[in-house]
Amino acid sequence: MQKHLLTVASAAVISLGLAASAVYMLVTKEVVAAKPEQSSAVFGPDGKLQLPDPHVFRRWVFVGAPLTPNALNNGHANFPEYHHVYIEEKNVDAYLKTGSFPEGTVIVKELTRVLNPTFPDGSRTEPSGRGYFNGEYNGIDLTVKDSKRFAKTNGWGFFTFGHHPLPYAESAAEAPATECAFCHQAYVAKTDMTWVQFYPLLRDKDPK
Ligand code: HEC
Repeated sequence: MQKHLLTVASAAVISLGLAASAVYMLVTKEVVAAKPEQSSAVFGPDGKLQLPDPHVFRRWVFVGAPLTPNALNNGHANFPEYHHVYIEEKNVDAYLKTGSFPEGTVIVKELTRVLNPTFPDGSRTEPSGRGYFNGEYNGIDLTVKDSKRFAKTNGWGFFTFGHHPLPYAESAAEAPATECAFCHQAYVAKTDMTWVQFYPLLRDKDPK
């Protein structure tokens, strides 16, 4: 009799447990479904994009560093001078799998000057050789993928927080298409508006 009671009791405990986990699963499923797309892009009420936290984005995946020294561009490169490009790891992974970036992807291009040039071409000599070395931070250009908000420019918004030393602008309005997007549209519309040909990790699909 006692044994029977025990069995009934443990059956009750088990079914309670099952019911509880079913409720838990339902609740968590709903929470996940209700979560909005995770993006590092934060827009203010005025529609301006907030400056992303440099302590955060400088720790994203560093995909490449094109270099256009002023000294090789009549003293005035369009984007002086190193271009450090950062993308969040989850978006790099998605690109490697699918060949395009997820909605909400932010790509930061942070500029740095070249370090104190001593030759007319902007280079200097260090123990490793003659060449270019990173100088001070010098500005941020940024793209955000949001196919609805930026439908007119192939689904990407373009923002500049200035081409100058720190501090950067705290927020930025979308740059006119004639200032930024037109050039990306003309050359890299087929690779999701991004110059992946300059970023070995994305271009070569992360070879060993
Ligand atoms: C005349 C052409 C041109 C214009 C105008 C232009 N870009 Fe680009 N952009 C490039 C090229 C080329 C690269 C990659 C090579 C490099 O950085 O030098 C690039 C790279 C970028 C990147 C890194 C991600 C990527 O797409 O590869 C961002 C972010 C970016 N540009 C934003 C901007 C913003 C913001 C503006 C306007 C202020 C702008 N660009 C205007 C040509 C242009």
